[in-house]
Amino acid sequence: MEQTLSIIKPDAVAKNVVGQILSRFEAAGLRIAATKKVQLSQADAEAFYAVHAERPFFKDLVSFMISGPVVVSVLEGDNAVLKHRDLMGATNPKEAAPGTIRADFADSIDANAVHGSDSLENAKIEIGFFFAARDIY
Ligand code: CMP
Repeated sequence: MEQTLSIIKPDAVAKNVVGQILSRFEAAGLRIAATKKVQLSQADAEAFYAVHAERPFFKDLVSFMISGPVVVSVLEGDNAVLKHRDLMGATNPKEAAPGTIRADFADSIDANAVHGSDSLENAKIEIGFFFAARDIY
């Protein structure tokens, strides 16, 4: 049984499709073990995406992620990291397969609706960034 971190980004929250996205996780057999809506500060977003600090898109990424609230969740299930990534589709919505979350809800590579941990190791770090163990059931 794996756990992974999901972020529903400000664009998808503003479109009022949080429930539709969470439903897709549940329909695919992932369980919501924790969830909350949060407004990230600039320091939060910079710390969360620190691995991308040297990339040319970092500044725009941070600005976008603090442009409105996000919904962060811990998803749990067999093969959760990969299953979640398959449901999201490619990072660039133009390349995302039909029927994936990004194909259906994302507008651009920055406003790409969702984030998901890319490995089990990063999932543990990302979950710890947002949730204490006692908040995950
Ligand atoms: P996410 O999965 O949240 O991880 C980093 C984010 O940076 C990514 O989704 C995109 O929204 C954003 N981003 C912008 N430009 C790029 C790029 N060229 N390559 C990867 N990610 C990018």
